[in-house]
Amino acid sequence: MTLPDLRNDLSATRIFTDMHTAYRFTPDPVSDEELAAIYELAKFTPTALNSQPLRVTFVRTAEAKERLLPLLAESNRAKSASAPVVAILAADTDFHEHLPVLNPQTAGVRERFAADAERRRTMALNNAWLQAGGFILAVRAEGLDAGPMGGINTAGIDEEFFPGTSLRTIMVVNIGHVAPDGSFPRNPRLGFDQAVTLA
Ligand SMILES: Cc1cc2nc3c(=O)[nH]c(=O)nc-3n(C[C@H](O)[C@H](O)[C@H](O)COP(=O)(O)O)c2cc1C
Repeated sequence: MTLPDLRNDLSATRIFTDMHTAYRFTPDPVSDEELAAIYELAKFTPTALNSQPLRVTFVRTAEAKERLLPLLAESNRAKSASAPVVAILAADTDFHEHLPVLNPQTAGVRERFAADAERRRTMALNNAWLQAGGFILAVRAEGLDAGPMGGINTAGIDEEFFPGTSLRTIMVVNIGHVAPDGSFPRNPRLGFDQAVTLA
């Protein structure tokens, strides 16, 4: 194995195997530069038609956290309270407005989506979820720990943070440095033979 191969292998091991979901964080801060670096990686997650419907709101002030915490399931509040940053991940159901720039090769694509709100919503949610997976791994690639959570009041968060807009919350991700006792032991993963078919 060459040195670059070895480096790649080590970083994949770190991001996929060593790091896992964080539930409690140290008070160490996360800088705005680190948050920008996370997005700069996450934005390369592939999406259908290069549509990129994910929108990210980094909640990092005490005031913004106070607005968010009551909108999380009670069992999730202490987890987000301990995180220096909580990212609200939302799907922009009006993503199609950007398509002429993001996908200039496909003629008339903005107009096709403009005429079909249901298809637009499905496309926005599917691809924002896909980007959310890339976002979690981008957090880890920046040397930070991530705690994704779906136990949240999505409609309440929309109302509080995105009223009158096309944004629909899908999940939140706690971000910071995991506390020494801040993650649970791994639960089993399905094995290759259980989840994979070689056809
Ligand atoms: C979409 C999604 C929603 C989740 N929702 C919650 C949640 O509401 N509360 C929570 O404590 N953990 C939540 N988790 C964390 C998962 O239980 C955890 O990532 C999974 O068990 C894998 O854990 P590991 O990374 O330690 O192996 C969620 C994870 C994902 C990806």
